[in-house]
Amino acid sequence: MKKFLAIILALTLVFALAACGQSAAKPAADAALVGVAMPTKDLQRWNQDGENMKAMLEKAGYQVDLQYGANDIATQVSQLENMIANGCKVLVIASIDGDSLGTVLAQAKEKNIPVIAYDRLIMNSDAVTYYATFDNWLVGTKQGEFIEAALGLKEGKGPFNIEFITGDPGDNNINFFFDGAMSVLQPYLDSGKLVCPSGQTEKAVVATANWATDAAQARFENILATNYADGTQLDAVLASNDSTALGVENALAAAYTNSVYPVITGQDCDVAIMKNLIEGRQAMSVFKDTRTLASKVVEMVDAIMQGKEPPINDTKTYDNGTGIIPSYLCEPVGCTVDNYKELLIDSGYYTEDQFK
Ligand code: BGC
Repeated sequence: MKKFLAIILALTLVFALAACGQSAAKPAADAALVGVAMPTKDLQRWNQDGENMKAMLEKAGYQVDLQYGANDIATQVSQLENMIANGCKVLVIASIDGDSLGTVLAQAKEKNIPVIAYDRLIMNSDAVTYYATFDNWLVGTKQGEFIEAALGLKEGKGPFNIEFITGDPGDNNINFFFDGAMSVLQPYLDSGKLVCPSGQTEKAVVATANWATDAAQARFENILATNYADGTQLDAVLASNDSTALGVENALAAAYTNSVYPVITGQDCDVAIMKNLIEGRQAMSVFKDTRTLASKVVEMVDAIMQGKEPPINDTKTYDNGTGIIPSYLCEPVGCTVDNYKELLIDSGYYTEDQFK
């Protein structure tokens, strides 16, 4: 009898596991379709964001139409048109240019398709329902405070030479990253404890189209040739993210001669810069765990589909020109050579081999 019961139990377990496996692997053919539009495959983070979200949405029982826009606005617009035509029930969009989606999103609104702006706010469109991102102002202040502490500015040290670089002018996030960092650093520029030899301190001047590493490198080669070729010391570079920081580091490797190496900031903990961070060529990055953001967005989608209230923790910061967009802000964390193992390896985000 005991043996018989054990067999029944084992069989039940096998069937239960098989059923679970089936539903996790493949959503039903009539499951609701969710459109996920990512800006580009060029930068590692968006591949991770897209793949994470697809996997999590499928696990939650949705079908997913995941598209990457090759940093081309027209491509992203036509991908969104297709998603709307194909009957997507919710759109999740990380925009290439936050100001260029008004017309296509008007079609979504007409069909009552909710739109979640992912990471980057979509501007001047009343079709945007929710926004999920990291606390972008905090990203900027963390970078500014890192430079402040590394140079000892609070203790009155200085003057130090600093240069600036931020991202794409069509990405609303730079208004938070750059302005957040400047809220910490501007007083030191005003008091003369920070000096910018190139004179390039305005956001529009230090912006980088498409956040491109090549463009960042070219601009810094120029800055170095004009202002530092005589051995002038560069003490710090405020870079808003890792792809632009990498351009700065490439330019320095080729043309910087002073023995004191600048403190350089970044954001994303891209694999491409981790070697530099570990070897001291980039002092810090900001870790934004894309798994957390993706899982919040899946919660949002699920709540919307079930007619429930999605998770929101900010209703005052992000005005897209048509009013405040209810948002969920995840928390960014500063990453240096001292805590990268705990943040990135122990948490299973990367394996150490990826940095070799
Ligand atoms: C994101 C950053 C990223 C940058 C370039 C920004 O909108 O918030 O994490 O580094 O785009 O892709």
